[in-house]
Amino acid sequence: MMELAKLVGKIQESVTMAFDKKAKDMKASFPETIILAAGEPDFAPPQVVIEATAEAAKTGKTKYTPVKGIVPLLQAIGKHIKTSRGLEYDPVTQIMTTNGGKEGIFLALAAVVNPGDEVLIIKPYWTSYPEMVKLVGGIPYFVDAKDLGKIVGILEHSQIKAIILNSPSNPSGMVISPSELKKLAQVLADKNIWVISDEIYSPIVYGANVHASIAQFPGMQEKTILLDGASKAYAMTGYRLGYALGPKEVIAAMAKFKSQISSCASSISQYAALAALENCTEDVKKMKAAYENRRNGIIVPFAKAAGLEYMEPQGAFYFFFKIPGENPDDLKFCEDLLEQEKLGLVPGMAFGYPGWVRLSFAASPGELAEGLSRLARFLGK
Ligand SMILES: Cc1ncc(COP(=O)(O)O)c(C=O)c1O
Repeated sequence: MMELAKLVGKIQESVTMAFDKKAKDMKASFPETIILAAGEPDFAPPQVVIEATAEAAKTGKTKYTPVKGIVPLLQAIGKHIKTSRGLEYDPVTQIMTTNGGKEGIFLALAAVVNPGDEVLIIKPYWTSYPEMVKLVGGIPYFVDAKDLGKIVGILEHSQIKAIILNSPSNPSGMVISPSELKKLAQVLADKNIWVISDEIYSPIVYGANVHASIAQFPGMQEKTILLDGASKAYAMTGYRLGYALGPKEVIAAMAKFKSQISSCASSISQYAALAALENCTEDVKKMKAAYENRRNGIIVPFAKAAGLEYMEPQGAFYFFFKIPGENPDDLKFCEDLLEQEKLGLVPGMAFGYPGWVRLSFAASPGELAEGLSRLARFLGK
């Protein structure tokens, strides 16, 4: 076999996707398998989205669109961001759609990171950030969420070109409060550091927590590339529809790359996302309320009763907990759990946090309760 590019050996496959597949293979042989591994809503998309999808296909909305997306959708995204964050963006020059939020993050990194630049990533992180940074030739620079106090010193580091923020966070559920964002914005004020703000879970925040974007703080809109999308908010993961907002030079650069890589987001998904943004505020609230009920009624009581160390899910739909004991092997834990109890979870190593495990509570209460009782049995609780 002829030689492959050196980069192939440097990049890891997505551990979350690999584990999800493993669990799905197990389910094919053992239908009783419960999978709480994938990061996707258990709901179907709202009915109007499904209707708009069919309508788009029937009425010939099946051709290439402009690279950034159809204008009505760009306008709807602009309106949504104005309503939710109070931020103004020009739909034509400062907003674009992407193939899922994932492509938006990659394009943003490609647009601002030079080979050898360091990109600050907070641990536990979403599994794809370090690999995407490496794909564009950058170097991931990690800081633990527990050590955020050290961030000021780290940001003085001259090689740091960008920082990735993810609030609410996958996998920890952590929400960065407006006062923390304000402090961070003050630190960044006199620095030439881009912020890539992954806000894909923006509407899913619990209790007194609120979602805010760092772009809302003085001087930050010009330095921030804000990423969000339809996947989590509207249960539209398979539609692959994300969006990016930022300074027009950055959006132009991202669109230039996109024009050579994937041309445009799916036309049908764009019309479906337009319907979602225009009609589905109530559906989003209902889904959020369902996650919150599971969190309050099932997850937190379980974690307390089992005496687990865990990160409080302030948003998103993940329960991230530490395996009890000294130096636990999270990979083995998840493999054995799948094998013995037919329960699929994701090892913390996927998020730069060995010894920890992520459970998604985007699952029906019945499945969740059964999954947790298997977990309790496996933990000997
Ligand atoms: C933190 C985070 N960012 C981005 C994405 C990507 O979302 P999408 O499915 O829209 O590509 C995910 C999906 O799991 C995520 O958890």
